[in-house]
Amino acid sequence: MTKDIKNKFAGKFIVLDGGDGCGKSTQAGLVSRWLNENGVQTATFRDPGDTVIGEKIRAILLDTAHESMADNTELLLYMAARAQLWKEKIAPALQEGKCVIMDRWVSSTCAYQGCAGNFGIEKVITIADDTLERTWPDITIILEANLKTAAKRMDRDLDRMEQKGDTYHNKVRQGFSELAEKYEKVKKIDASKTIEQVFANVKTTLENSI
Ligand code: TMP
Repeated sequence: MTKDIKNKFAGKFIVLDGGDGCGKSTQAGLVSRWLNENGVQTATFRDPGDTVIGEKIRAILLDTAHESMADNTELLLYMAARAQLWKEKIAPALQEGKCVIMDRWVSSTCAYQGCAGNFGIEKVITIADDTLERTWPDITIILEANLKTAAKRMDRDLDRMEQKGDTYHNKVRQGFSELAEKYEKVKKIDASKTIEQVFANVKTTLENSI
C-alpha cells in the first residue's frame, strides 16, 4: 500500500480549495502528513503568497484600506502572485518529484472573480491559460461548508475579501459547485463534518482520483 501511494503521488499537483473558513489549510496539513508517512515528499504552498513578491501582492489584495480596488486589478494581482509562486516554488518542487499540495489555485479565481465577481468562469480560465504555465492540477478538491459553519471558523477581524458579504460568498460557493459539475478533475466534499470525517473523505477522493 505504502509503495502504491509513493508511486502514485510523487510529482503530483494537488489543490485544496473552497470558500473562506472551509478548513482547507487544516486538511492540507493532514494530507501532507499522511503522504509523508507513506514515503512521499511533499511541498505545501498557499496561493496567493509563499514568495517575497507573492506575500506583498497578498497584503495589497487583502488590505481593508483598498476598498477602491478595480475588479480587473484584483483578478490580475491574483494571477500575478500565482505566476511567481509557480516559477519560484511549484515548478522546482514538481521537478524534484515532490507532491505539491496547494491551498487554493485557479479554481479560487474562477469562483471569486469569475462567478461572484462577474468576469465569468470561462474568461478566468482563458486568462489563466494565457498567463500561467499550468492552469489545471492533477486533482482539485473543493471543501464545501455552509456560510454558518464557515463563519464560526473565522472568529477574527475579516480581510477585504472576507468582508464582501453573504451574497458575494454564496456566489463563490455556487462558482465552486459549477466547477465540480463541469470538470472531471474537480471533486466536491462536504466540509461541515468533523476534521477527521472530512479528512477520511479527502483521502478516499485522492486515492480514487490520482
Ligand atoms: P486565504 O485566506 O484562503 O489564503 O485566501 C485569501 C483570500 O483571497 C480569500 O478570501 C479568497 C481570496 N481569493 C480570491 O478571491 N481569488 C483567488 O484567486 C485566490 C487564490 C484567493
